[in-house]
Amino acid sequence: MDYYHQLKKSQLNFHTIIPFLKFDQELEKELLAKKIKVYLKTEKLFIIEPTDQQVIWAQDHWRDCHSAIPDKELQLKLKALNIFGYHYKTEKNKAVESLLGRLKQIPEKRIKFPVAKPFNFKYYIWTTYQDLVIYSLNPEKTYPAGWHEFEEDKEFPPNRAYLKLWEVFTTQQLKIKQDDCALEIGAAPGGWSWVLSQYFKKVYTFDRADLAPQVKKIKNITHVQGDAFKISPDDFKDVTWFFSDLICTPEKIHETIEFWLAHSRVRNFVCTIKFKGDTPFEVIDKLLKIPDSKIVRLYHNKNEVTWVKVTTDR
Ligand SMILES: C[S@@+](CC[C@H](N)C(=O)[O-])C[C@H]1O[C@@H](n2cnc3c(N)ncnc32)[C@H](O)[C@@H]1O
Repeated sequence: MDYYHQLKKSQLNFHTIIPFLKFDQELEKELLAKKIKVYLKTEKLFIIEPTDQQVIWAQDHWRDCHSAIPDKELQLKLKALNIFGYHYKTEKNKAVESLLGRLKQIPEKRIKFPVAKPFNFKYYIWTTYQDLVIYSLNPEKTYPAGWHEFEEDKEFPPNRAYLKLWEVFTTQQLKIKQDDCALEIGAAPGGWSWVLSQYFKKVYTFDRADLAPQVKKIKNITHVQGDAFKISPDDFKDVTWFFSDLICTPEKIHETIEFWLAHSRVRNFVCTIKFKGDTPFEVIDKLLKIPDSKIVRLYHNKNEVTWVKVTTDR
């Protein structure tokens, strides 16, 4: 029996992955490299064999998925869960029409930063594949479908890079203390610096270029123009957090992280790992070996991922 018919008869044990928009080929390559079998796929959905592995190019990864015909029985089953559902839109079809309006739905809403209360209540997620409904009570992302769209500030920040940091601050448990100071390399024109200035006592920024005038004027930011790879940790003894969105190879930023770990008391990092072409899994594996760290492919990342390390004992 083919996979579609196994799905139809609810006989397939599967997970579902949402690819990031325009990055479905990266997801496909990653699944191949990790030897994870793809049963069925569209541009918006990958139905795969169950796996415990982290899938970096997944905007969301739903475990313990169910498939069903959209009949009255399914409707009653979903209603009986007594929690909100989130509809991940794929295509408009009869299955969707018959369920929408009959189930309690989480509305699609932009995130207002900073979030007053993190979105952390239990929900189930559902979508359709052809004439079937697929649902899971076990999505990976806290925010439904990993849809991290913010109410943007179109006035102050000099670019949209700040959205990456807003996403990190919204989804990761960063425990910043009142007297913490940050160092940021590759900071210009200053979208991140503007965000950091609101959380840290002092922010030291480095870039070959200057910051935008409105960012440079912020009192707790000290900017130096020059090569960020030439700075010495000895000159930043008060720094406890390290941020980088600098454009360089994955190998170079990995080497820089190892250098700061070995020669400074910095134990908290948020660094963008920028790719040229294919995902460099060897560098990612090396970064993941660093204790208390993880790789997140943010909704606002492009051909890049974000490496985050947060250590509280210092
Ligand atoms: C993507 S931009 C950073 C944008 C920034 N996060 C923001 O929010 O505005 C990358 C920056 O890395 C800087 N850069 C690249 N190589 C550098 C180096 N060796 N030293 C200092 N800055 C460097 C570039 O000048 C550029 O401004």
